[in-house]
Amino acid sequence: MRTHKIAAIPGDGIGQEVIPAGLEVLRALTERAGDFALEVEEFPWGSDFYRATGRMMPEDGLKTLEGFDAIYFGAVGDPHLPDSLTLWGLRLNICQGFDQYANIRPTRVLPGLESPLRHLAPGGLDWVIVRENSEGEYAGHGGRAHRGHAIEIATETSIFTRVGVERIMRTAFQIAQSRPRKLLTVVTKSNAQRHGMVFWDEIAAEVAKDFPDVTMEKELVDAMAARMVRKPASIDTVVATNLHADILSDLAGALAGSLGVAPTANLDPSRHRPSMFEPIHGSAFDITGKGIANPIATFWTACMMLEHLGEKPAAARLMRAIEMATAKGVLTPDLGGTATTKDVTAAVVEAIRADN
Ligand code: NAI
Ligand code: MG
Repeated sequence: MRTHKIAAIPGDGIGQEVIPAGLEVLRALTERAGDFALEVEEFPWGSDFYRATGRMMPEDGLKTLEGFDAIYFGAVGDPHLPDSLTLWGLRLNICQGFDQYANIRPTRVLPGLESPLRHLAPGGLDWVIVRENSEGEYAGHGGRAHRGHAIEIATETSIFTRVGVERIMRTAFQIAQSRPRKLLTVVTKSNAQRHGMVFWDEIAAEVAKDFPDVTMEKELVDAMAARMVRKPASIDTVVATNLHADILSDLAGALAGSLGVAPTANLDPSRHRPSMFEPIHGSAFDITGKGIANPIATFWTACMMLEHLGEKPAAARLMRAIEMATAKGVLTPDLGGTATTKDVTAAVVEAIRADN
């Protein structure tokens, strides 16, 4: 029997509600499949851990995680701690420590969900956003000087390297190539940002030569935001910088019905280190503890994790079960329903058991 080692890190807020739901669904799935097992170890890292130890994760945390095949991550963020501390202390520490440079974000309107774009035909919104996940605007490069004085300054410098841009471009072209439409939209802001973004455009054109069967087009980020709302069916695979794709993918999640359904994978495509799978959303203080967090994003994330682990039939079975549950109208309040996290989990587990 194949065995995959999973490190589960629920983290903060609703992360502690949706990850247990995801693990329950994964248990039902491995029981149903019978030909592979998941060996899950949970790590209580996050803001409570910080309050107890002064660190978001242990100093040798990355070393511990190295031995796992994948990381299943909830969310991080606490109302009483600065986001810069919590995010960098755990999630960005893992992403950067393991060089998970490709952040993959599929978006689709699931059966039974209503997009704010109500006139959308089924399949009219089916995108994969590829986000550069290691440098750009979130490189952490910059500084502050003259604190508290009138002349105080702060800089936040975007870093674009040839290695960094080329590898994310290649990943994006490969994903576009694997999808039926073979269409890649390269998003920049090269009219106004005339160094890094022009560099990005040039490298896109170079890499495009290796993928003659993929149609590449360019779009400025502001125009892209408008196009996502006005002509969603014209889009397939999208590649953008760390900041641009962060913003566009929140819009994508909202257009698909709710942030509560949007999944993501932080990949090290070289597979030297474990990749990390998580819902796009954060720790959602406003609904923490109410039992109504939507676990669909965390389930869909598990599909991406299973695909990455080579368990394609199980991933497809889980996706079918998710779609069966949403089509039946078992929806949490963020999607206009009244179901709880537990109700949705039970509906998906039931659909897995009934699937043949
Ligand atoms: P958020 O994603 O936590 O919440 C935004 C809105 O969406 C809230 O109204 C929330 O109730 C709703 N929402 C999110 N996930 C949902 C779900 N599964 N089911 C139902 N409704 C859901 O973003 P926000 O409020 O900006 O950030 C809260 C904290 O999370 C902050 O500390 C932030 O830094 C952190 N954060 C962490 C992320 C991560 O760990 N990857 C990503 C985004 C934010
Ligand atoms: Mg975001």
